[in-house]
Amino acid sequence: MSQGLLTVSYIGATILFILSLGGLSNPETARRGNLFGIIGMAVAVLATLMSSRLAGASNLAIIITAMAIGGGVGVFAAIRVKMTQMPELVALMHSLVGMAAVLVGYATYFDPGAGLTGAEKTIHEVEIYIGILIGAVTFSGSVVAFGKLAGRVSGKPLTLPGRHQFNFGLLIVTVMLGKVFLNAHGVSEGLTPLIFMTLIALVFGVHMVMAIGGADMPVVVSMLNSYSGWAAAATGFMLSNDLLIVVGALVGSSGAILSYIMCRAMNRKFLAVIGGGFGTDGAAASSSAAAAPAGEVVAVSSLETAELLREAKNVVIVPGYGMAVAQAQHTVFEITQFLRSKGKNVRFAIHPVAGRMPGHMNVLLAEAKVPYDIVMEMDEINEDFPSTDVAMVIGANDIVNPSAMEDPNSPIAGMPVLEVWKAETSIVMKRSMASGYAGVDNPLFYKENNRMLFGDAKKMLDEVLNHLRAAA
Ligand code: TAP
Repeated sequence: MSQGLLTVSYIGATILFILSLGGLSNPETARRGNLFGIIGMAVAVLATLMSSRLAGASNLAIIITAMAIGGGVGVFAAIRVKMTQMPELVALMHSLVGMAAVLVGYATYFDPGAGLTGAEKTIHEVEIYIGILIGAVTFSGSVVAFGKLAGRVSGKPLTLPGRHQFNFGLLIVTVMLGKVFLNAHGVSEGLTPLIFMTLIALVFGVHMVMAIGGADMPVVVSMLNSYSGWAAAATGFMLSNDLLIVVGALVGSSGAILSYIMCRAMNRKFLAVIGGGFGTDGAAASSSAAAAPAGEVVAVSSLETAELLREAKNVVIVPGYGMAVAQAQHTVFEITQFLRSKGKNVRFAIHPVAGRMPGHMNVLLAEAKVPYDIVMEMDEINEDFPSTDVAMVIGANDIVNPSAMEDPNSPIAGMPVLEVWKAETSIVMKRSMASGYAGVDNPLFYKENNRMLFGDAKKMLDEVLNHLRAAA
């Protein structure tokens, strides 16, 4: 393939990726956006494979074998993974981008063909150093995020004494090692500072994510998304591949925008997050016994829930992580259809950090074919709770926790939440009195106008639907 054709293919792929991102910003156009992304990626891979740089049958054979193995593992993982494990899978994928950047960095450094001198050599080495640095932080940070999301690593923040000074120390050593690396004569001399920097970056990645409490995980997920983009862009610089640079920058910047949106949703300061000063201060002292809510909860049956729904005119459904666990979205939609057929106004309220990944609830509701026009964002619907008859909370907890507004010592203090307690009646569906991801007690359960429907969300909603239908 000629250089001209390669450039045209890369520009075409870039346009498709931009259209893809544009499409993904809205649920109605998301499918089309995905399709653009798939076509763009196919064009990019084919053009790269056919480019003259990779010419040579033996190279192609190695690449195609590697693609077949990688693709096979990817298909196997995608088929086997449960919907509730998607966030972990995404975190694992980010770690692979980081690892790729590290490996490409070392391979590029060892490549004798580079033969660069003077300023060009320095720029090339800076690319390698920064690429490996970002890649290693992304890799180890994503592995820890995977552990936290999968519940294999504790969600409690690791708050080492003087952790900010420790991080700052690591940064200084990294800069000093960079100087030694750039002044090294020959590959073997430069290898030592490079390996030390890689180890430091790995430790930093682990420490950064370990220091973040459960309540702040959404920001970490989107930050690592952004880091993986920058790692890909760095790989693009090392391989002199323009498309990889552009795509990496697109992912990096859209991930940064998502981090900003997540920070706003959780009332965290973006710059504090960027600097690694994730808001765990104050959180440690948080769930003091004094702040623990007390009182009695009022449990209801599925029959009573059906009666409350039958009498209501305005219903707001608040889905959370438990709906994903129970896979209750289809029954939720059947109940919605039934209530709407009886002339009731039923809407969904989506909190930006509901579930375990950005857009988690939207994906589930779209899968169940819930019409988009009744799915509202938090800001659109929060004011409507006082005029709501029944707010039905399905497997959600932290996102409807009033202590975020009422208890300044709470780890989730200041996070905007869905104010379901302002409805005439709120019904919380969950299996027990257990706390949510952030590990915070929820005073909502004890409010006078709140009812608890205990049990698996899918099973309980099936029962509610049967009662509704039976009385129709
Ligand atoms: P959570 O606060 O985690 O609460 C989910 C509730 O669902 C749990 O209290 C659990 O109570 C219940 N549940 C679990 N399985 C259930 C089942 N089969 N049937 C019925 N209920 C079930 O979820 P949320 O309200 O969606 O809030 C999200 C939390 O995750 C926030 O703290 C957020 O910061 C964090 N987080 C979010 C993200 C993103 S990007 N969205 C990423 C990482 C972390 P029982 O055990 O009593 O049933």
